[in-house]
Amino acid sequence: MKFFIDTADIDEIKDLAATGLVDGVTTNPSLVAQSGRDFFEVIKEIAGVVDGPVSAETVATDHETMLKEGLKLAKLADNITVKVPLTVDGLKTCKALSDDGIKVNVTLCFSAGQALLAAKAGAAFISPFVGRLDDIGFDGLDLIAEICTIYGNYDFDTEVLVASVRGPLHVIDAAKMGADVATVPPKVLRQLYNHPLTDKGLDAFLKDWAATGQTIL
Ligand code: E4P
Repeated sequence: MKFFIDTADIDEIKDLAATGLVDGVTTNPSLVAQSGRDFFEVIKEIAGVVDGPVSAETVATDHETMLKEGLKLAKLADNITVKVPLTVDGLKTCKALSDDGIKVNVTLCFSAGQALLAAKAGAAFISPFVGRLDDIGFDGLDLIAEICTIYGNYDFDTEVLVASVRGPLHVIDAAKMGADVATVPPKVLRQLYNHPLTDKGLDAFLKDWAATGQTIL
């Protein structure tokens, strides 16, 4: 499973990219707003920090303008993936950009039917929002299972990018289902590698080692 970081905070991205565990970054208009930075500047900077795909989202709602925005965003760096919403205009834009060889991430997916349409429109990634479904009383992970099954049945190349992740269990369960990517807030990536028993065990090992009076280097 690939890990993308779901943030536009460049310091967080640099810090986590240094672990070698970050395969890409996703942003959205809300995350860019939270960063307080210029959109084009921050996207270019992120694209220079990670080698993998960096999703930059369009904000127009009509196909013609969305396509122009997508073409402009795609020129910012070689590793830009254009993000469009799962609307009719978004899918038209996805098809046009994908036909042009530009990678597209179709976002705001909340049903298997929507995911099927995005794959047919040539999306490189589909972003089902698990946390937001959980928030309204549905099981977001059921949607991941459905999409993985459907895409597998037809050998679609579209990668399942689990989005709106709220905690490590979303990632682990989605990985069991074979989802290709999880985009996680920085906090969740840290939760994945931290464990209190690891810290406790390491403390004990270091104390015992110090008592031997030996060194390795
Ligand atoms: C996906 O690309 C979105 O940016 C993101 O996962 C949305 O998550 P949220 O529901 O926590 O806002």
